[in-house]
Parts: sequence; C-alpha cells; structure tokens
Amino acid sequence: MKSLLSCSDLGTDELQSLIADAGSYRALLSEAGTVDRVLDGRVVANLFFEPSTRTRLSFELASKRLGAHVLTHLTEASSELKGESLKDTVLTIAAIGVDIFVVRHGTEGMPAQVHEWTGTPVVNGGDGASEHPTQGLLDAVTLTSRFGSVEGLRVGVVGDVGHSRVAGSLSKVLPRLGAELSYIGPEGLLPDSAPDGVVMSSDLDAVLGELDVVYLLRVQRERGALAGDDYQERFGMNSARAVRMRPEAVIMHPGPMNRGVEIEPEVADGARSLILSQVRHGVPTRMAVLAAIGGTL
Ligand code: NCD
Repeated sequence: MKSLLSCSDLGTDELQSLIADAGSYRALLSEAGTVDRVLDGRVVANLFFEPSTRTRLSFELASKRLGAHVLTHLTEASSELKGESLKDTVLTIAAIGVDIFVVRHGTEGMPAQVHEWTGTPVVNGGDGASEHPTQGLLDAVTLTSRFGSVEGLRVGVVGDVGHSRVAGSLSKVLPRLGAELSYIGPEGLLPDSAPDGVVMSSDLDAVLGELDVVYLLRVQRERGALAGDDYQERFGMNSARAVRMRPEAVIMHPGPMNRGVEIEPEVADGARSLILSQVRHGVPTRMAVLAAIGGTL
C-alpha cells in the first residue's frame, strides 16, 4: 500500500490483512517501547488543519511504536497565520524530510492534494465530510474483536450521516466485510442518496430492536448541520432505548461525544458501550496502516 486516501482504495484481501495485523499489534502493545522497527529512522509528519484528540495522538503513538520520528503540525501554531499558503507550508515541511504524511483538513480531497504536491505517501486523517479511513478500519477491528467477525452484523449509523466522513468510510468497509448497513437520522441530516445496499430511514425506534450495532454520530455544527428541537427525543440514545436493544447489541461512537445530545451519559458509560474500546483499537490499527506503507518505502 502506497497511501491510504480512501477505503475504496483497499481490496478486500488488503482490508482483511490490515484487520489481522491490527489484531497482532494490539496483542504486542502490552509490551513496553517500540514493538516493530518497520519505520526505524523514518519521519512521519502529522498535518492537522482541523481539531483532533484521539486521531492525532494515536497516529503519533503508532508512529513511535514503529520506530519513526514524529513531527506534528497544527494550524494554530503555523506560519499560515502569517499569510503563507497551504501549498508553501506543505512543501516546506516536505523539504525538512518526511517519509509519510498524515493529513486532516476541512476540505475534501486535501490529503490527495498533499500527495500530488509532494509525491510522498499520505494517510487521510479525515477530509471534510468525505472520509476518515483509519476510523472506518479501527471500527471494523473493534467489531471483529468483540464479535469474532463483522459478517452478518446489522449496523445502524445514527444521526448526522450527511456530514460524516466516518460514515463515508464505514460505508466502504463494513458492507465489504459482510455487514448490513443502514443510515438512520432526521431527513435534513441524511445524504441525498445512500450507497448501494445501504437502507435509509428516519425512525430509529422502528428498527432499534433489530440492530447489533448502534453507531452514533455527532451533529457537525461546524459543517452547517442543525439538530431540530426534537433530535434527542427521536434519535438520542438513552437507557430507555438501550434496554430495547438485542441482548448482545453494542453502542459505538467515533468521538468526540456531545453527552446529552446524541448520547446520554448512562449509555456512554454503560455496559453496551464500545466507545473506549474503539479508542484502544486506534493505535494498533494505525500501526497496521503505517507499517503497510512503510513496507513499500
Ligand atoms: C470524528 C472526525 O473528526 O471525523 N472524530 C474522530 O476522528 N474520531 C468525528 C467527529 O468529529 O464527529
């Protein structure tokens, strides 16, 4: 693998081998220090032009666990604030010497643009409302670890699907692994059309009892989304809804959560929640991706 810009770039075999590698790295992570030297002496530069906590920190740690040096560039501390263009900033960082870029940006396609400008491998750390490939992968890894396989799981992605790059990647990963995906949300927050095989609905309560996974999304106000006054009543995950789910069903969320909006605290911290398990799978999943790219350097 040369870059990871979209989950549609991954063949099904490649997808399965990344999930298996993430599982192996997860087992190794109980050991201290560097667990694999595949990026020994290489430089990974994180370019984050939008806020991030778990994605940025887990890419940093994943890179270090593979022996790389890590540079992290955040917009707040950047010469862009002195008027430098994005392209000049990127070419400047590339000239310092970078082997792999990780790029998050509010504009769709910017990670691909960075690859075009520099010729350096790029991992998409989230571009606009388009994709967040390593989140889609780590969710598949989390589900595999919980259920043994993603095959046959009924997954409902609930909320602001239209603005969600996480949904963009989940829709390219989970159906290929045999899951049945549906989008559930208010009419105004669903996309105009769903990908092939994905069913859309606006009645969470009608389908709740059939789902194995309720995957909640944050309402992306920064992308212009508005939750109506009845959002919590119709789509909020609370304990009354959690008790109506299938016995083994789980609740997921990519974070950051808005407690009291899409999820109530008792559910976020409850027995069905895989939210911190998702975070725990972030480092080994990103190690698997970076190692696969590292193998081609
Ligand atoms: C998401 C993102 O930034 O795409 N978070 C994440 O990376 N885990 C989702 C969000 O911001 O709602």
